[in-house]
Amino acid sequence: MLVNNLPDLLFDSQLISEEVSNALPEGYAIRPIARDDYSRGVLDVLRVLTTVGEISQSRWEEQFDYWKKHNDQYYTLVITDKNEKVVAVGTILVERKLIHECGLVGHIEDIAVDKNQQGKKLGLRLINALTAIGKDAGAYKVILDCSDHNVAFYEKCGYVRAGVEMSLKF
Ligand code: ACO
Repeated sequence: MLVNNLPDLLFDSQLISEEVSNALPEGYAIRPIARDDYSRGVLDVLRVLTTVGEISQSRWEEQFDYWKKHNDQYYTLVITDKNEKVVAVGTILVERKLIHECGLVGHIEDIAVDKNQQGKKLGLRLINALTAIGKDAGAYKVILDCSDHNVAFYEKCGYVRAGVEMSLKF
């Protein structure tokens, strides 16, 4: 859906680091996820990460509208190629705590780069842009969980090992 002929973006594009935008390969762009990205392959990109399942367009729009109502908390970015196809996606969720004087913590989640587009530094640019959004929002730290085989990637993005992830699945 277009609003005044402009795409309906999750949040203000000005929050995206200009340095990251300028560092992308020619023809690629980074922007907030848009309501009409459903048809640009964003769910297929996420399938390189894990199970996505079947999500109807109306379910997608419901989710987008929920995020948009909370768009000082959910920041999802996409990178598109020269055909405006989504080739990378990732989120930072900003949590409001009581500790650290009601401090904010950024949680990086659900990072995925299309299989055919990996190795072009798109993942690194995405993490840099999401980290900058967290920092600019006032977070005192940004954290994420990943598997051992991705540790070296996140180290290249400036992250260091800290703690252990635990989970209980339902
Ligand atoms: N192991 C070691 N080094 C790596 C890895 C890896 N798995 N992946 C990338 N790198 C290195 C690259 O070689 C590059 O190094 P260089 O600067 O010396 O050349 C640097 O990290 C940056 O790599 P990018 O090209 O930016 O990586 P890419 O665009 O391929 O994205 C990503 C990496 C996101 C892990 C991608 O491969 C992917 O989508 N994988 C499948 C889904 C996944 O595992 N997502 C992360 C889950 S964790 C989470 O969501 C919080």
